[in-house]
Amino acid sequence: EPGRRRRLLDAHRISEEFFREQLVSPEAAVARAFLAERGFDRSAADDFGVGFAPQGWDSLLRHLRGRGFTEAELTASGLVSQGARGIYDRFRGRLVWPIREVTGETVGFGARRLLDDDNGPKYLNTPETPLYRKSHVLYGIDLAKREISREKQVVVVEGYTDVMAMHLSGVRTAVATCGTAFGPEHARIVRRLVGDSGGAGGVQLAGGSSVGGAIVFTFDGDAAGQKAALRAFGEDQAFNAQTFVAVEPSGMDPCELRQERGPDAVRALVASRQPLFEFVIRSTLAAHDLTTAEGRVGALRATAPVVAGIRDSALRPEYERLLAGWLGMDDVGGVRRTVADA
Ligand code: GTP
Ligand code: MN
Ligand code: MN
Ligand code: MN
Ligand code: MN
Repeated sequence: EPGRRRRLLDAHRISEEFFREQLVSPEAAVARAFLAERGFDRSAADDFGVGFAPQGWDSLLRHLRGRGFTEAELTASGLVSQGARGIYDRFRGRLVWPIREVTGETVGFGARRLLDDDNGPKYLNTPETPLYRKSHVLYGIDLAKREISREKQVVVVEGYTDVMAMHLSGVRTAVATCGTAFGPEHARIVRRLVGDSGGAGGVQLAGGSSVGGAIVFTFDGDAAGQKAALRAFGEDQAFNAQTFVAVEPSGMDPCELRQERGPDAVRALVASRQPLFEFVIRSTLAAHDLTTAEGRVGALRATAPVVAGIRDSALRPEYERLLAGWLGMDDVGGVRRTVADA
C-alpha cells in the first residue's frame, strides 16, 4: 500500500542522512582515506551521497527506532538483518553508496568493506525488498538520466567507483548494475532512455536506417570482462545491433584508469567502443591461428553463425565483407556460402 512505501522511502532518506553524517566522524577516517586514495574529494563524495556505516551492531538501528520506525518496518526495509537474538545493522564498518531510482529517491544501498581483516563479502547490497529489486536498479541512473536522453548513449560499467570515475571524467551517461549481471529489465530501462531516434549515439546501419541510441559496455580486459561482454550478446537483435563494447587492454577498470592515467584516458576508453558484433567476431577469431589454412577455415566456421544471426539485411553483407577481410580472403564468396549454410 502507498503508506507503507512512503515509510520505507522515509527510512532510506533518514538512513542516507545518517550515513553521510557518519562520514565525518573520527571512526570514518578509514573511509575518508579510501575515498582520497581513489581520487574522490569531499565534493565528489557529496555529489554521490557517499556515507559511512559505523562498526557497531545497532548504530543505524537505534537512530531509526528513535525516529519512530517499527520492528516490522525495519525488517521490511532491508536495512537490518535478522539474527537469533533479534535484528541488527546490515551495513557495518563500510563505505555506503545510496542507490536511487530514476526519480532520485533512495531505495537501497551498496556497501564496500574497508578493512581487509573483515570477514564479509567485499560488497554488500540491500536484499530484495518492496522498494529494491536488483534486476531493475541501475546505480547512477538518477544522475545520468538527462544526459543519456540527450546523448542517446548509455555507458554501463561494473561498479560504484567506476560510475563515479566516469562522471568525474566527463562521461555523465555512466551507470552500473548493483552486484548482479546486466539483464533484460536493465536493458528495457536504458533502451527507453536512449530511445530509437538518431542522436549522437544513434547507430547508422549500412542501409541508412537507424537503430537508435547506443548502449556501451565497458569491461576490464581480463577474462571475466570478456566473458561478461559475450554474455551481453543475446537473442534480442535490436539490442545486439545497438550494443557496443569498450575493452580496456591494460585490465584497469575506469576507476583505476582515472587514477593512473587521468580523465582523458577514461573518455578515450568510451570512444574506443566497437560494435558488439565486431567484438564477438574478433574475439572468436583471436582464438584461432589465422596463419594456417586450417585455422582460417576453423575461424570461419566458428564465426559464420554470428554473422548468420544478423537479421538486418543491410548489415549482414557488411559483416560478411569485414569477416572476409579479417580472414585475409580477397573473395567474399566463401564467407557468404559458409554464412548461408550456418
Ligand atoms: P574496488 O576495489 O571496490 O574498486 O573493487 P573492484 O574494482 O575489484 O570491484 P569489482 O570490479 O570486483 O566489482 C565491481 C562491482 O561488482 C561492485 O561495485 C559490486 O557491485 C559488485 N561486486 C564486487 N564484489 C562483490 C561481492 O563480493 N558481492 C556483491 N554482491 N557484489 C560484488
Ligand atoms: Mn574484483
Ligand atoms: Mn573485474
Ligand atoms: Mn573493477
Ligand atoms: Mn575498482
